[in-house]
Amino acid sequence: GVSLDPYRPAFHFTPAENWMNDPNGLVWIDDRYHLFFQYNPEGADWGNMSWGHATSPDLLTWTEHPVALPYRDDEQVFSGSVVVDHANTSGFGDGVIPPLMAMYTSVYPDGRQAQSLAVSVDSGTTWHPFAGNPVLDRGSHAFRDPKVIRAADRDGRERWVMVAVEAERREVLVFSSDDLREWRHESTVGAFGPGGVVWECPDLFPLDVDDDPLRQRWVLLLSINPVGADADPDGSSMAYLVGDFDGHRFTPDESPGWQRLDHGRDFYAGVTFDNAPDGRRIMLGWMNNWRYAADIPTAPWRGAMSLPRELALRTIDGRVRLVQSLPRELAAIDPAAGETLLDGVDLDGVRRLPIGCNVLLDVEWEPRGARRIGMDLLVGDGTATRLSYDVESGRLSLDRSNSGHVDVHPDFPSSSRALVPLREGRLRVQLAVDGCLVEVFADDGAVTVSDQAFADADAVGGAVFADGPSTVWVRRRTALAARDDP
Ligand code: FRU
Repeated sequence: GVSLDPYRPAFHFTPAENWMNDPNGLVWIDDRYHLFFQYNPEGADWGNMSWGHATSPDLLTWTEHPVALPYRDDEQVFSGSVVVDHANTSGFGDGVIPPLMAMYTSVYPDGRQAQSLAVSVDSGTTWHPFAGNPVLDRGSHAFRDPKVIRAADRDGRERWVMVAVEAERREVLVFSSDDLREWRHESTVGAFGPGGVVWECPDLFPLDVDDDPLRQRWVLLLSINPVGADADPDGSSMAYLVGDFDGHRFTPDESPGWQRLDHGRDFYAGVTFDNAPDGRRIMLGWMNNWRYAADIPTAPWRGAMSLPRELALRTIDGRVRLVQSLPRELAAIDPAAGETLLDGVDLDGVRRLPIGCNVLLDVEWEPRGARRIGMDLLVGDGTATRLSYDVESGRLSLDRSNSGHVDVHPDFPSSSRALVPLREGRLRVQLAVDGCLVEVFADDGAVTVSDQAFADADAVGGAVFADGPSTVWVRRRTALAARDDP
């Protein structure tokens, strides 16, 4: 049937109501993934910033909980992170249960932004701001988004490291601490790259290159938002650097070396879980863009998280790249209900497929003469979101300029592009289509494209196409949590 809330995703997290932006305080503890998030408890517009809260046993089904860190008249609660203080270095624990420590940005009525602590001694259910807040105040109005990790110093001694931004100066500041209260400035990354932007929501973590622990590199994630009168109409996006971190200073391997993290318009403020099992590195991002976030036509909620993405570093065509893949928990979405729609079928033209709007798809094309291949998603009456690939140039594009309600904002219609080589003569992509969200994983996750698209409620069709001879495979995985199967 037709849902009253056609944009609401089924297997992505959205709050039941009200405004949401960045993921905050991602942490795993006691068999639960905790997601905190920038949240307005009182409305569907940005404001009254607080930390909302949700948990999941499997990264797929989320349960929303009461607000964890509410705003007060004299303090808004901006983005930050949570760590498990296993050794009770902070002294806030009882010596039995390790305290969870949140480090967030307090924003005061005079505009000052400083870093504060909150403690949970019941595995994340209830939170108590530290009486001595803020713990790190530089008198700045743009000092925010602390991400805390554990890292060894040059002598091999483990302690806490925090990365945070001086957003307007385009700097990532590195601090260290033994107890999470007293912080020493260690070094500064930036400023570099184009001006007219703010830097936000950094993250820093090690990953093995090509699964080889002897070739570990560090990844610095950054969210970049254009500001000012002549700001880039493409809006906000994420980038990453691969480099070395000696516990004090981050040095990129290539200078400046930024690589784009996602080629769509709607992936921002992505950060990773602390304490994830088996050393896994899992990221969530906010699937939105500051350029038009206030205008998206969903109600009574506004803002969605991406699917969780497991990160790795791989050498691809001679360069170390961050690759993103769906965690195995999602790959296992109800395989029994999966269905092979096309199994190596000859295609020269258009083939309609029953796809729906809550689905994970594996699609593969072998162009054998075709110069353009692709797929239409969320197909309605004369509208579609089009994924297409130009064989000669290797350009993959996700075009939402005819996706339905494109009058959301003058800069909403868009076509996002990325270069993706054929591998063994084939293009292989994984697609998540879920309500108003489309995520494309190409080149084994080295390229992702994430966009919102606001199609009509009955826009549940799909089609694969090729403008010449090709072979196509399409496998549909029915989403376990699918909300409203058409
Ligand atoms: C990023 C951001 C952060 C800030 C938060 C406020 O999207 O601007 O820098 O902490 O959102 O909600």
